[in-house]
Amino acid sequence: MQIAPFDVELFFAVYEFATPHVLCASDCESMTVTDLLELAGMTMADLGTQWLGYTESQGHPDLRGLVAAQIGGAVTAQDVVVLATPEEGIYLTMRTLLEPGDHVVVLTPAYNSLLNVAEHVSGNVSRWEIEATAVSFQLDLNKLANLLTDETKLLIVNFPHNPTGLLPTPEEFAQIVALAQQHDVWLFCDEMYRGLELDGRSPLPSAITQYEKSIVLSGLSKTQGLPGLRSGWLLVRDESLRAALINWKHYTSICPPTPSEFLAMAALRAHDKLVARNVAIITQNLQAADAFFARWPQLFTWRRPSAGSVALVETAVPSTTTYCIQLAEEAGVLFLPGPYIGYHDTFMRWGFGRKNFADNLAHYEAYLQKKIGD
Ligand SMILES: Cc1ncc(COP(=O)(O)O)c(C=O)c1O
Repeated sequence: MQIAPFDVELFFAVYEFATPHVLCASDCESMTVTDLLELAGMTMADLGTQWLGYTESQGHPDLRGLVAAQIGGAVTAQDVVVLATPEEGIYLTMRTLLEPGDHVVVLTPAYNSLLNVAEHVSGNVSRWEIEATAVSFQLDLNKLANLLTDETKLLIVNFPHNPTGLLPTPEEFAQIVALAQQHDVWLFCDEMYRGLELDGRSPLPSAITQYEKSIVLSGLSKTQGLPGLRSGWLLVRDESLRAALINWKHYTSICPPTPSEFLAMAALRAHDKLVARNVAIITQNLQAADAFFARWPQLFTWRRPSAGSVALVETAVPSTTTYCIQLAEEAGVLFLPGPYIGYHDTFMRWGFGRKNFADNLAHYEAYLQKKIGD
């Protein structure tokens, strides 16, 4: 059975490891296993004692306990389902919740699977489009109110948002939750970038603490910069939905890998240090980006992100698809063209989470200057 192409991943499969100056990664700076363990006050010898037998399907109780403690509120270890990858949580949720014909509303543009898997399973998706104003990206809550009906089964959102860097105000978020509640709709909230709120903004409350019928996706790939761990989890308070999700999970990964669970516990122990480090990297890189965009006002419209590690930058070229491919091949510089993440061909996604951002940006700027000279 066919499913729509996973454009982001297909693009990265070709270019990510073949292009030296990546400026569009969504993950933050990573580290070695040794460095992570050291940050958590542990050693490689601790990792070496891990037993490589099967693990608990729902996830190690200690890991689930650490996840729940971090969220706080009434969330307990019982509400956590550890996954083999964050991505798996999107697939499992859509498979578990949706039947063909069920109405789903998806915030767009969206990381491809959030839209495509829902579309594949239900075939009845309405898009709640983020609006680009002259200076920022905005939510239109009236539009959401018009899209949701009592027939709607599921609302899918992602905050902080990939690819725009949008973070709703607490009031906007409360209205989204209230609308879901009013129509008795399940709320899937992708919180993969939570913790990367910028310029002194506070994180939104996790949706799981606001609404009984929410399903939250989180993990260690983005905010903590550990995508190679492939560690993620769902938070689900509804017991029967949780059981149904775990049943689906037996058809995908059965249980999480031992080394990932062990290292995920180390990462959660070092959580505050990891997040502070990555917010500092993004903050510094955004300052370099501000200065860069001020030097090239004719080429870019800069809508600064409020949170997360990415932004969509409008670019004065006829097609960012053509431009990005040319740039990768001629200059070894990589951006993600807007259409590969469901947006217009005059935008490209930038990523600010990596330490080599300023060097790569200097490389890109040298290319731009040379082009002007040519
Ligand atoms: C919004 C969002 N959700 C989920 C994922 C999936 O995370 P992972 O690749 O670690 O499985 C990504 C990855 O880019 C993402 O951006």
